[in-house]
Amino acid sequence: MSDGQEHVRPSGVWATAVGVARVRALETQREDALFRDPLAQAFATAGGLWPSSPPLPGDEAAQRRRRAVSLSIVIRTKFLDDLLRQASASEVRQVVLLGAGMDSRAFRMYWPDGTRLFELDTAAPLNFKAAVLHREQAVARCERITVAADLREDWPSELAAAGHDRTAPTVWIAEGLLIYLPEDAVELLLARISARSAPGSRMGLTLGSRGVLERFGADAAPGSAASLWVSETPDDPVGWLAGHGWEADSRTLRECAAAYGRPISTPPQLDEGPGGLISAVRR
Ligand SMILES: C[S@@+](CC[C@H](N)C(=O)[O-])C[C@H]1O[C@@H](n2cnc3c(N)ncnc32)[C@H](O)[C@@H]1O
Repeated sequence: MSDGQEHVRPSGVWATAVGVARVRALETQREDALFRDPLAQAFATAGGLWPSSPPLPGDEAAQRRRRAVSLSIVIRTKFLDDLLRQASASEVRQVVLLGAGMDSRAFRMYWPDGTRLFELDTAAPLNFKAAVLHREQAVARCERITVAADLREDWPSELAAAGHDRTAPTVWIAEGLLIYLPEDAVELLLARISARSAPGSRMGLTLGSRGVLERFGADAAPGSAASLWVSETPDDPVGWLAGHGWEADSRTLRECAAAYGRPISTPPQLDEGPGGLISAVRR
């Protein structure tokens, strides 16, 4: 891996992955951290987001929104860490991280022997990540396989070529991803996942909570993550997933945040609908 790769400036949608790493690095510094991600700071540094600058004075509303997004990243990370531990405990040994970005779970979590973890994202973030991992001499705690592919194209063939076994259960994670895909692309993704999910497979999804596009997207700064958001939770996420053959459970960010001891302090919005944190099992 050439050292030059990590000097590639994060851009477009994958720059959001480095922003997520920055949030995880900040969480890792807390005494009461809900998870620890020792590599996050290296990703944020390589992407020019560390040391973390103090918020600019002024626009209170923008700062409030940024804090809310940061909290949502911390809560969803913990939610999916727990889901992955449950999947491992129920003998699932294939993990697919869709839109993996700077997810470092292969390095920071415990994995039972025989676990194969696939990280799927486009080539630019995977190359950037590889350069940082190389410099940090990071060692994966399971078999880690990267798959460079665009999720709007024929990624299933790439995943199969990389060794994914569709006859064995898989746990699929789409974290902070679906909000960037238009509804028809989300539908196609789900159909493709479902067709490759043996009984006992699991899935963890995060979706923008109902109303998030209206509340956050409309006045988002150009080029910011929120300016790229295009889809949110369907009206009936459990019914939607049942239609694809999944038994799902949906939680709101607010419910999970309270359960994890990080309650959201702002009062619920009147239009706050069903939740953005979804776990599902294939029977
Ligand atoms: C907000 S980041 C989340 C990264 C990671 N899941 C996490 O939570 O740390 C969104 C990721 O989705 C990836 N992504 C978005 N659209 C994609 C597409 N069409 N194909 C592959 N990856 C995509 C981006 O490259 C980026 O890494």
